[in-house]
Amino acid sequence: MQIIEVGVIGAGQMGNGIAQVIAQAGYKVKLCDLNAAALETALFTINKNLDFLVNKEKISQDQKDETLTRIECHQDLSALANSDLVIEAIIENEKIKSDLLKQLDGICKDTCILASNTSSISISKLASATHRPERVIGLHFMNPVPQMKLVEVIPALQTQPDIFNLCFALMEKLEKTPVRVEDIPGFAANRILIPMINEAIFCLYEGVASANEIDTISQLGMSHKMGPLALADLIGLDTCLSIMEVLYDGFKDSKYRPCPLLVKMVNAGQLGRKSGQGFYSYLDKKVQA
Ligand SMILES: NC(=O)c1ccc[n+]([C@@H]2O[C@H](COP(=O)([O-])OP(=O)(O)OC[C@H]3O[C@@H](n4cnc5c(N)ncnc54)[C@H](O)[C@@H]3O)[C@@H](O)[C@H]2O)c1
Repeated sequence: MQIIEVGVIGAGQMGNGIAQVIAQAGYKVKLCDLNAAALETALFTINKNLDFLVNKEKISQDQKDETLTRIECHQDLSALANSDLVIEAIIENEKIKSDLLKQLDGICKDTCILASNTSSISISKLASATHRPERVIGLHFMNPVPQMKLVEVIPALQTQPDIFNLCFALMEKLEKTPVRVEDIPGFAANRILIPMINEAIFCLYEGVASANEIDTISQLGMSHKMGPLALADLIGLDTCLSIMEVLYDGFKDSKYRPCPLLVKMVNAGQLGRKSGQGFYSYLDKKVQA
């Protein structure tokens, strides 16, 4: 089986990065989102990211132009009828993702592989929502996609080995470093990262230190590039909370209880960079603690 056309659903921060790296590797990409404004913002971001690469002389102007011609935007999923692989990167919610996969099962050709960029939700469960569970897989890209090398490749219990091998090889063609991870709540990356972020939020909640101080401690004391609270703002607090809930439900272990402050901020719509306010303010492009 050959992959020629790739559908990407969800043109948010992950979807636009996934569309960019796939188009840069020479594949035709159909980027879908319900929201026309999200598609417009995605194209603007991809254009800006490619300009950055041209300015750094990592790619030529021609390569940038060719990459952009390979990306088509759609609001209607029926545009994916002929895709060989569809990667969904919509909201981190099991019911909404399962419903989307069911819908795709009816739209996409029988040979199409359905992949999820979920951060934590069971791939085996998502696969069960379709009539092609052997062709469903997890492809967990990291944020920001164009810069981050790692992709966790997660087979469902039902995934056929040749589908796994094809997707693993495709990630190498995107110049990523794929790592096989089993289908266990949170997989590996987020099982390690998100409880650490949650603990940092507990430190803030309990008044151990301020947001700036907690991030400084991680950066200067642990050599982390970004502090955990700045990283939570980048990931999105809604996504962090969803992952903690998957870990808590999946392991039934109280060590994964989400910090009440995280829950409160999500309830208030303070989701981090994407809403303009999280642990820091991004309004007027000024970052304050
Ligand atoms: N944010 C991160 O750091 C990160 C990292 C790795 C994986 N992920 C995962 O990637 C996925 C997307 O996260 P994000 O941060 O890009 O979210 P986001 O909120 O930035 O974007 C989600 C996009 O999906 C669109 N959408 C929602 N429902 C849709 C539907 N039914 N059909 C079409 N479009 C729909 C929304 O309009 C929005 O544009 C989640 O599963 C998340 O867990 C996120």
